[in-house]
Amino acid sequence: MKLAARVGQVTPSITLAITAKAKAMKASGMDVCSFSAGEPDFPTPPHVVAAAQRAMDEGKTRYGPAAGEPALREAIAHKLQRDNGITYAPQQTIVTNGGKHALYGLMMALIEAGDEVIIPAPYWLSYPEMVILAGGQPVIVPTTEESGYKITPEQLRSVITPRTKLLVMNSPSNPTGKVYTPDEIRAIAQVAIETDLVVVSDEIYEKILYDGAEHLSIAAVEGMYERSLVCNGFAKAYSMTGWRVGYLAGPEAIISAVATIQGHCTSNVCTFAQYGAIAALNESQDCVAEMLAAFTQRRSVMLERIRSMPGITCPEPEGAFYLFPNISRLGLTSVEFCQRLLEEFQVATIPGLPFGSDANFRLSYATDLDTILRGMDRLDKFVSSLQ
Ligand SMILES: Cc1ncc(COP(=O)(O)O)c(C=O)c1O
Repeated sequence: MKLAARVGQVTPSITLAITAKAKAMKASGMDVCSFSAGEPDFPTPPHVVAAAQRAMDEGKTRYGPAAGEPALREAIAHKLQRDNGITYAPQQTIVTNGGKHALYGLMMALIEAGDEVIIPAPYWLSYPEMVILAGGQPVIVPTTEESGYKITPEQLRSVITPRTKLLVMNSPSNPTGKVYTPDEIRAIAQVAIETDLVVVSDEIYEKILYDGAEHLSIAAVEGMYERSLVCNGFAKAYSMTGWRVGYLAGPEAIISAVATIQGHCTSNVCTFAQYGAIAALNESQDCVAEMLAAFTQRRSVMLERIRSMPGITCPEPEGAFYLFPNISRLGLTSVEFCQRLLEEFQVATIPGLPFGSDANFRLSYATDLDTILRGMDRLDKFVSSLQ
């Protein structure tokens, strides 16, 4: 049977494929050190689990409104005010199947055939694929290690055309861990205002910041409220990856368009999972601080080891839980590097290529210290063998 042409236009997620391969190797008895998944290794905080269990006991097991439980939309609006200083009414928010489907729904609601979407590289690998699925044209803007892998206002200005529809911002970034400073955000906002640009800001790593790095949501900058969409979720900050709860906030007309689309493709997010999400937002945030403390320690250990390896440079990440070392001096493509590392040394990492930079590879340090130490020993041996 002939598949639709769009299937051939997108690439399956390499992150999911490598993670699956590493899991299969583990299942066959191999000792694999896995740094591939963008997934905290902590259990979901018990009070969040308890809230979902209570919801199930109370019969919150039925269909709900496609845009989300009213109590969760209210909690999201409250969070955006409390943490980001942005005032949204609950109807300006929508609960989605993870941050991923918030972005997909938004692309489907905004993009018409041939519309251009600006994506600074390195980027989270699903952005261009979502743009393509929606019929749009990704406009990839390469950044450099020197600029901290951040797009400059001049670069942004230079790629805007009459077909430009949207700019995708992601700070803290997956894969680089880089965080735009408030001044840098304001400078990008200035260009967006002057050029009448709509911005989607993926803030899913907003709570994972190091060394005093500061997160400013671009939607909070004066003049940006009407032209910004904020995307966030529970997976990373609350270790709720499998719960599939995320959200989008922005102008009501756009949110309600996303809700109409969602109503036809997924209906509501799992009802009792949403009650867990309410507890995550409304109850103690100590769990977030505890996970951050662990990430902080792991980041230092991994960064120090990686930087000691000959031929590798690695900028210091200010957020998220990834390192994105540069391996261009080692003479392998990122795919060759990661394949050999997995097959010869049983260390799972992700090549930079699908993130828009073949000079790098990505390691997640959202795993225990022992695995990090063992994995770094193996990586060291592999890198030495390449010299
Ligand atoms: C930058 C970024 N945005 C969005 C997501 C989607 O997260 P989820 O759909 O699990 O909420 C991820 C997950 O890896 C991510 O790294």
